[in-house]
Parts: sequence; C-alpha cells; structure tokens
Amino acid sequence: MPTLLKIAQIGEPILREPARELSVEELASESTQRFIDDLVATMHDANGAGLAATQVFQPLRICAIEVGDNPRYPYKPKIPLTILVNPILTPLSERTFMNYEGCLSVPDLRGEVRRYAELRVQALDRHGTTIDMEVRGITAGTFQHEVDHLDGKLFVDRVSDTSSLCTWKAFARHREPEFRERVAAIVAEYGS
Ligand code: NI
Repeated sequence: MPTLLKIAQIGEPILREPARELSVEELASESTQRFIDDLVATMHDANGAGLAATQVFQPLRICAIEVGDNPRYPYKPKIPLTILVNPILTPLSERTFMNYEGCLSVPDLRGEVRRYAELRVQALDRHGTTIDMEVRGITAGTFQHEVDHLDGKLFVDRVSDTSSLCTWKAFARHREPEFRERVAAIVAEYGS
C-alpha cells in the first residue's frame, strides 16, 4: 500500500530549492520506485493535476502529472498519468497564453501566469525509458507549472498582474466563466 505524503506549504524552504537529478541506477532502486508510488497516491488523494517531489519534501527531479475528471480543474483537458524524471522543457515557439493556476502548496489562491503554448518535453519515465514528446496549450501550462517546482519556483513568482490573485471561491464566482471560454479557445487552437 502506498503511503500518503505530507505536502509542503508555501514558506517551507524545500519549495525554493532546485532539486537534483537522479541517476538511472537511483531511479531503478526500490526506494525510488516506492517513492514514485507514494507521490502518485498523494497527488490522487489531494486531487492535484500534478505533484512534484519537492512538494513532498524530496529534493529530486521527479514530478507526476495526471488530469482525469478533476474536481479542482473541471475544465482542463485530460492528461494520462505521466511521470517525468530529470525533465527538460524547450519552447517550440514564442507563442504564449495566460493560464489561471493554483497549487497544492499555495492554499486557496489562484492567479494568472503567462506560459509557453508549445513545448518539447525530454525526460525519463519511471522505468528509465526516454520520453521525447511535444505538448501544447493548457497541457503545456501544466507541464511548466510542475517543472517550475523542480527549479524552486512557484506560480506566484510568475504572476505579473497581482490583481488576478483570488481565492478559489472568488475564482468560481468572478473569473471562472471567462476563463472557461479562454480555455475552450486555447483547446480549439492547440488541441489541448
Ligand atoms: Ni504546484
């Protein structure tokens, strides 16, 4: 049975520390594989769209991403469960969009963040197999949010218009209808 891990909240120093890469041997170890199981279970338990190792107090370059029927983000396009180890993101163009983000490490706050719309993703999966793929649109925003965690960055660092900051309740009341329309336009343009 996986163990649910404690999620670090903003102010914990670990959230500000760049995480370190893993060797293929370390990735294959029983303890790392068990850790990945725990990371995924914790993400599911918290209804996260992603969870990075630094958010559960492990300074390793591992993050999990998955979007199914998520009550926190009902408008997000689905993403199958993806484990990224030692990820590198490279923008494929200068095109960007404004994403409305939240984070399990930043309780009850959302804000608008500019994200690249098209990315190349290079990483290892949990078995050490090479991942080399492209992601676009809202999904690209989710990938950038998670990999930011591995560099000690939180979405609040990238909020340039602080008047966009709001609680989840205020988001639902004042921002969500407009943002859902924007998401639909981004999905129509980029396919996700
Ligand atoms: Ni986050």
